Amino acid sequence: MRIEDSVALVTGGNRGIGEAFVRALLAAGARKVWVGTRDPEAAAHLASEAPGRAVPIALDVTRPDQIAAAAEACGDVSILINNAGAFLNQRLIDAPTLDAAREEMEINYFGPVGLARAFAPVLARNGGGAIVNVLSSGGLVAVPAMGGYSPSKFAGRAATTCIRAELAGQDTQVTALIVGSVDTRMAAHVAGRKEKPSDIAAAGLNALRRGLDEVDTDIMAIEVRASLARDPKALERSMARMLSAATISTGR
Ligand SMILES: NC(=O)c1ccc[n+]([C@@H]2O[C@H](COP(=O)([O-])OP(=O)(O)OC[C@H]3O[C@@H](n4cnc5c(N)ncnc54)[C@H](OP(=O)(O)O)[C@@H]3O)[C@@H](O)[C@H]2O)c1
Repeated sequence: MRIEDSVALVTGGNRGIGEAFVRALLAAGARKVWVGTRDPEAAAHLASEAPGRAVPIALDVTRPDQIAAAAEACGDVSILINNAGAFLNQRLIDAPTLDAAREEMEINYFGPVGLARAFAPVLARNGGGAIVNVLSSGGLVAVPAMGGYSPSKFAGRAATTCIRAELAGQDTQVTALIVGSVDTRMAAHVAGRKEKPSDIAAAGLNALRRGLDEVDTDIMAIEVRASLARDPKALERSMARMLSAATISTGR
């Protein structure tokens, strides 16, 4: 996938890893980046840094009307970065209700799937293009302390594989980006090493350029995959121990 002269849409592009993707795409020569954001004002700083190239668009990924309007407005897109996500810090049994788990599924699973469905014809018209789904090492191993979030990322990973097969005929490359721990608002409660959002975006662009199916963006994601291969039961036990810890730690 060539990034130079491409047009991209980044969901949740106003801050965190999404903002880093917007900046990295622009720096790599993308002609335009649509900055999907619940509140276009929250992306005004990007629009003024790159007038006409960073273009905010109202896009709550849980709203089918806004997804449809974005697909209509952004007919020039050839790269879709499904980045928007939420971690609501609830467990499955311990939570007072399933509201948080449902919301995480809406944002982290149905959001990207809805975007992929709406943009598949747009990508096809523009030569195939690419979808990158920003997932998590919590989608490789179940993390009981992230009981709502982790299953939503497992579902997102499975959907990525299904969508890749469905869109192979129109030459759309579909990448699962497995992200460990990153220094954004979402991981404010996590202790230990955290990567820079710009490094995750750089790994994402590298995966895009090379057309990779699934990529671990950082050391934590790599270590989780290695532990899973080496001794899945030991990894499950260490994840379960986090339930009784005061904070989630990356172990560094
Ligand atoms: N940080 C980590 O350690 C980490 C690790 C693994 C994976 N990830 C994944 O990386 C992605 C980005 O997370 P981040 O770390 O950058 O988190 P963040 O700083 O909390 O940013 C989350 C972004 O998603 C947006 N968002 C939330 N709900 C939305 C919705 N319904 N519609 C549209 N946008 C919505 C937020 O918009 P508002 O500003 O309007 O709230 C914000 O732009 C997520 O998919 C996350 O699961 C993060």
